Amino acid sequence: MREISAFELNDNIFKTIGKDWTLVTAGTKEKYNTMTASWGSVGIMWNKPTAFTFIRPQRYTYEFLENNEYYTLSVYGEEYRKALTLCGTKSGRDTDKAKETGLTPVFDEKAPYFEQARLVLVCRKMYAQDLNEESIIDESIKGNYKDNDYHRMYVSEIVKVLVND
Ligand SMILES: Cc1cc2nc3c(=O)[nH]c(=O)nc-3n(C[C@H](O)[C@H](O)[C@H](O)COP(=O)(O)O)c2cc1C
Repeated sequence: MREISAFELNDNIFKTIGKDWTLVTAGTKEKYNTMTASWGSVGIMWNKPTAFTFIRPQRYTYEFLENNEYYTLSVYGEEYRKALTLCGTKSGRDTDKAKETGLTPVFDEKAPYFEQARLVLVCRKMYAQDLNEESIIDESIKGNYKDNDYHRMYVSEIVKVLVND
């Protein structure tokens, strides 16, 4: 993996997050979890390169984001679509996702990621807030929250960008 500046990133972020998807991973070598996320964004906040990540409270990964200061967002080539589908449909509560997908966890940064990633953003939480019904302006998004499971938004500094080329 080669480190680049966040300002050197030239991905189309709409495609990378929305179409290629990401894995959100947090925890330690002893206990970590990963899940697929395709909602979120990257940009600038408080003058820092920033990732905006949205996690529903029922996700097992939520506990790991709550209990750790750092997490990674990692991106994979099309050949890992099946692996990312599994990570987005099974829970780490009852599945060993690394074993099922063949993805190899790496623990050399402040949060785990997988060796097969083509891009890794190491993120440090700066701010977290639950979305809520009272703040909704566009009624049409209410349909996403029929179970009242409002996402928690994490606003996180991107402290490192790694690329595999
Ligand atoms: C393509 C795709 C995108 C997803 N995006 C998100 C997301 O942005 N936020 C979220 O909370 N769940 C998202 N999910 C759902 C979680 O990945 C899924 O519930 C997963 O099984 C949770 O695993 P866990 O219980 O091990 O954390 C997505 C699922 C898929 C398939």
